[in-house]
Amino acid sequence: MVEDREKARQELTEQLRSAKSQAVRNKLGQFATPASLASDIVRQALSLLGRGRSIRFLEPGFGTGSFYSALLRSASPSHIETAAGYEIDAHYFEQSARLWDGTGLRLHHADFTRVEPPQTEADRYNLVVCNPPYVRHHHLDSSQKQELQAIVSRRLHFQMNGLGGLYTYFMALSQTWMSKGGVGAWLVPSEFMDVNYGRKVKELLVSRVTLHRLHRFDPNEVQFEDALVSSVVVFFTNALPSDNHQVEFSFGGTLDEPRVSTLVGLNQVYKTPKWTHLPQSAVEHDRKDSTGTLADLFAIKRGLATGCNSFFVLSAEEVQRHSLPAQFLRPILPSPRDIAGDEILADKAGEPLIAKRRYLVHCDLCAERIRAEYESFWRYLEYGIERGIHKRYLCRHREPWYSQENRPPAPFLCTYMGRPTARSESPFRFILNHSQATAANVYLMLYPKPRLATLLQGNPEVSRVIWKALSSVTPESLVGHGRTYGGGLYKLEPKELANLPADVILDVLPKGTKMRSHRQLSLFGM
Ligand SMILES: C[S@@+](CC[C@H](N)C(=O)[O-])C[C@H]1O[C@@H](n2cnc3c(N)ncnc32)[C@H](O)[C@@H]1O
Repeated sequence: MVEDREKARQELTEQLRSAKSQAVRNKLGQFATPASLASDIVRQALSLLGRGRSIRFLEPGFGTGSFYSALLRSASPSHIETAAGYEIDAHYFEQSARLWDGTGLRLHHADFTRVEPPQTEADRYNLVVCNPPYVRHHHLDSSQKQELQAIVSRRLHFQMNGLGGLYTYFMALSQTWMSKGGVGAWLVPSEFMDVNYGRKVKELLVSRVTLHRLHRFDPNEVQFEDALVSSVVVFFTNALPSDNHQVEFSFGGTLDEPRVSTLVGLNQVYKTPKWTHLPQSAVEHDRKDSTGTLADLFAIKRGLATGCNSFFVLSAEEVQRHSLPAQFLRPILPSPRDIAGDEILADKAGEPLIAKRRYLVHCDLCAERIRAEYESFWRYLEYGIERGIHKRYLCRHREPWYSQENRPPAPFLCTYMGRPTARSESPFRFILNHSQATAANVYLMLYPKPRLATLLQGNPEVSRVIWKALSSVTPESLVGHGRTYGGGLYKLEPKELANLPADVILDVLPKGTKMRSHRQLSLFGM
């Protein structure tokens, strides 16, 4: 009977999933927990609660009720005193209400963050299990964020970080729904363990509740088919921690059989800024987690600064109009907004196959030679002098003023400044460049260091793998390494990008590649 309902639930989940596009599901963070993982989480949570206790269960962000179904499979019905769920999406709500009809579930069609929690201890829940919607903060409008912060502040007297996704508010608010000693089990993205906005969540976890365990899945064993999110399961009870409390940090494998696991004193947890560095033994296993950075693999430089783009960066028509000789022109990429995709293909000559081609004026010859041998180019330089270009700060510090910094084409580029746009959630784009075009300072250029360069020469297909890996880095991780300015403008300096952990790349390199281990990285002087 319970198994039949679970089968029907899985069918319903699939039906609801395929009825919506990924973009629409992203908006409400609709990614179902795989059934076996839901069972593992519920079993662990039940053992923390203590077998045989009367259960008051709550699943906020209910979806089709992965955890409720797991509860019915794991606990005896006589122990379930009450069970409730909250779901904002009418679609899910109606179908789930029908599916679970007659099981005693009280399913509410409501926004969990807006509902007032129970006022009395007896009405609160002692088992809250949740895979909250993973909606990034820039999908929440600013009034929504302010309101969420105000709700948390009113109910918990706690100030959340505005860059946190919806799941951080779900986690914080759930405490007010829990009875004393109640157990919370949360499947959330592991991002909060390291990035800036996560500090507030960690503060709640170490100071307001007793944190029992964080199990982080290996990012290479992704838990969801369609959301490339590395996940962590967090278990806590709603009680203040004792002074000598220890938290279990485990990593890899499954909840029941983690690859590594260690107990860490709360003091140590407190002092560790990046929780993904715990457990220590896992870090020893995967030294790349904490030590190697992109700087080991790439020389990262800002693109060149011309001093006056309107003079030095020209369209094909302008080149033709001024009859400029090809030897003083180099292909250069236009502004990122004029590049449609994130991969730039090239023709046989190495010119980028893009609509808005641009050429950089560059010449090292002395003025006398140009005047004597290249009449049209000389006229163009004179035109620049008339406009005072040669006196501009950057030009005046170059010798000759019309020469350019040396920036060979780079195979990987990052647009390092911007706002999240409708087209992309991330303010940053990684571009795979097959062309011989150089780039201006609106890009960061990633030049593979010798050993990686050799690997790429022998295995050009690996470029694509690296590019995909770079593109999969979440904006939060990047912003955690970079800066955010007012109005949602993000900026990333070369050094900040260089500080990103190298495992982003090392993890995806073909098996058997020497560079996969950090120790080898340093051995080879990368
Ligand atoms: C990550 S899914 C989890 C679904 C299910 N609990 C599971 O584990 O498979 C999150 C669910 O929360 C719902 N949701 C999103 N925002 C919500 C809100 N503010 N209040 C209640 N539910 C919400 C989504 O529609 C989605 O069904």
